[in-house]
Amino acid sequence: MIGGVVALFTLYSSLCTNIMPKYVAGLIKDIPSGTRKIVELAERSIGIFNVDGVFYALRNLCPHQGGPLCQGRQTGFLEAETPGDFVYTRHGEMLRCPWHGWQFDITTGRAWIDPERIRTRKYSVSVESGEGLAAEDIPSAAETYDVSIDQQYVVIDIP
Ligand code: FES
Repeated sequence: MIGGVVALFTLYSSLCTNIMPKYVAGLIKDIPSGTRKIVELAERSIGIFNVDGVFYALRNLCPHQGGPLCQGRQTGFLEAETPGDFVYTRHGEMLRCPWHGWQFDITTGRAWIDPERIRTRKYSVSVESGEGLAAEDIPSAAETYDVSIDQQYVVIDIP
């Protein structure tokens, strides 16, 4: 354990390097493959999805009528080159809004119905070591969390 308590939902951007503010969203072990975690960061509700070991983060706000998009069901695609020849692809990469069923691509945040015009905000996600986080300057904190150097954390960039 590194020197005490560090922030979970913490802005730890280094002001001197001029990078986008980053927030620690939790331990990667708490978001195993096929699961999600919804967090409140920078006054926004954000859903973090682990799709086969790759993390994605989307705004938990449907552009249709403001539904809690990230609480929706995860699905894939059912495709057919010829009638009756179905293939299920992109397992877990589609998200269906729980209010009216609009579907979104988790990897892009874009709506299946009109991907060029309709989307929810997608955030950049990285995995960082506790050792690296402990070395960062932490100018503010909303909640506290023990950061361990032998753990890996999900970090989200929020402009
Ligand atoms: S609010 Fe999401 S589909 Fe209507």
